[in-house]
Amino acid sequence: MCGIIGYVGNENAVPIIVEGLKKLEYRGYDSAGLAVYADGAFEVVKRKGRLSVLEKEIEQNPISSFIGIGHTRWATHGNPTDENAHPHLGHQSKIAVVHNGIIENYKQLSEKLTAKGIKFSSETDSEVIAQLAEYYYKGDIMETIIEVVNKLEGSYALGIMCLDEPDTLIAIKKDNPLIIGVSEHGQFIASDVPAVLKHTNKIYHLNDKEIAVLSEGAVQFYNIDKEPLQKPLETITWSSESAEKGRYPHFMLKEIMEQPKVLSDTINSVLNRGNNKTIIDNLDFSQFNKLVITACGSAYHAGVVAKNVFEQLCRITVEVELASEFRYKDAVIDDKTFVVLVSQSGETADTIAAMREAKSKGAVTLSIVNVVGSTIAKEADFCIYTAAGPEIAVASTKAFSTQLVLLYVLAIRFAVQLGKLSQGAEQQLISEIKTIPGKATDLLKQVDFIQKYAATCVGYKNVFFIGRNIDYAIALEGSLKLKEISYMHSEAYAGGELKHGTIALIEENTLVVAISTCKRLYSKIMSNVRQVISRGAKVLLIGDCSASEPSDKLSYISLPEINELFSPSLSVVVLQLFGYYVAANKGLDIDKPRNLAKCVTVE
Ligand code: G6P
Repeated sequence: MCGIIGYVGNENAVPIIVEGLKKLEYRGYDSAGLAVYADGAFEVVKRKGRLSVLEKEIEQNPISSFIGIGHTRWATHGNPTDENAHPHLGHQSKIAVVHNGIIENYKQLSEKLTAKGIKFSSETDSEVIAQLAEYYYKGDIMETIIEVVNKLEGSYALGIMCLDEPDTLIAIKKDNPLIIGVSEHGQFIASDVPAVLKHTNKIYHLNDKEIAVLSEGAVQFYNIDKEPLQKPLETITWSSESAEKGRYPHFMLKEIMEQPKVLSDTINSVLNRGNNKTIIDNLDFSQFNKLVITACGSAYHAGVVAKNVFEQLCRITVEVELASEFRYKDAVIDDKTFVVLVSQSGETADTIAAMREAKSKGAVTLSIVNVVGSTIAKEADFCIYTAAGPEIAVASTKAFSTQLVLLYVLAIRFAVQLGKLSQGAEQQLISEIKTIPGKATDLLKQVDFIQKYAATCVGYKNVFFIGRNIDYAIALEGSLKLKEISYMHSEAYAGGELKHGTIALIEENTLVVAISTCKRLYSKIMSNVRQVISRGAKVLLIGDCSASEPSDKLSYISLPEINELFSPSLSVVVLQLFGYYVAANKGLDIDKPRNLAKCVTVE
């Protein structure tokens, strides 16, 4: 959570920082601020509320500088207020700091400083970094930062400026992401690539406890012992347009609409590479006796869908665990366990911890990640990238869809290795996967109907999503999409569970979204549909609707034919559009839903 950006160069840093913060707002948006060096002092502007409040302030009282740091916050310690917003200065206003992460021992540290007479001006854990830095500073800022971070427990990505070295920006990180961008006109630090894409696609990934020292024309790297480091300069393939909304009112809609293309790109990246083998081809599952998938949020739901696919194709038991649970449960895993980590950002704190826990027990880890060079991508034993491009909306859509197709391909691969799938059957399934982008395109053409239908749904008190087997798995994602962006109460249930409790909640003014792609379970789900209709609910049926007549109680959206193992890739498109248009009809801030952040780098 929280986004940080810094710039030093020959252009005005202020608009560059504000533009960068706009691209990082998905990481936190309860307050924002920036600090620039001007005439021998730091000028700091920070405001509670959305970035637009800060922008307005700067418009009214313009400032400019060639160097500065900025921050967009997702509060953890202390309410969203002007004082708690970053950057934070030390007591002599000599050192300015922006921080992403959590300092776990901030209380002990700040008590020591308070006892020495140092006054704090915020309730944040982050301020202690600036205060400590000023307390220890004796003329060498890098030395000071090393001294400070050695005292910190917790996680941090830091951007730091010191008045005595006004041409220099310093960055260091531990367990939170930070990249360094280099352009013709200056150098950047940022939490994520989209913040700098307008200026450069040339970046360095900073590793834990590496220090970057940026000046107008150069970047130098050091380890924590102050020894110089050589790091590889990477070229990002994402275009700057891919991080822009373009003609769409929201990133979420743009990202839903991009799915056919990114699905094709992802499928091609693993299936159409001629003789070039991919990691998927090189993995050998036969040496393992257990498969565990772990992730958070939508990525976890991709795992729940994949469990169904792996179990059907490989005939093995698969465990899917929320990473936040897995990390603390002393899981029964060993060197015969293959653990798959799924993450768009590659920086989710719980998923990182789950990965480290799995590795410490000897398991072999594979990550499915969207952000190149992210922590999970780098630390897992193997990594396959989704080719979703930058996903900016907080609610995941295209990243989720691309995770699914990679998991399908992996399941097919393992099934072949386990001798559970003939070559013919493998080819048949792969051909089906290749039809997904085209079928998603056909579905997206039904946007008008879904939009109109969603407009009638804003008044429901409760929305339930039901399905069975793999349809239940995707119902979980449909429900999450709706609740996170529309703030409507919604839950997903396995159809068979309705009668064990949930049916008590069905009354007039309840909507049930039923997903029905499993032919053998069609009559079962339809019996659930009849049960809820007879108790006053309205139903939207998605999937096989061949035997049902629409009525004022029952509406439906048919899906193109596909092997039912892959049907979640189609049903989810409808579910995403449905959630999106309900929220749009309520006039909500869809890309930045309240209290949520895209990348949860804290526990
Ligand atoms: C947050 C986001 C979700 C995302 C989840 C996991 O909650 O709002 O959209 O699914 O984190 O993130 P990851 O980057 O690990 O996929």
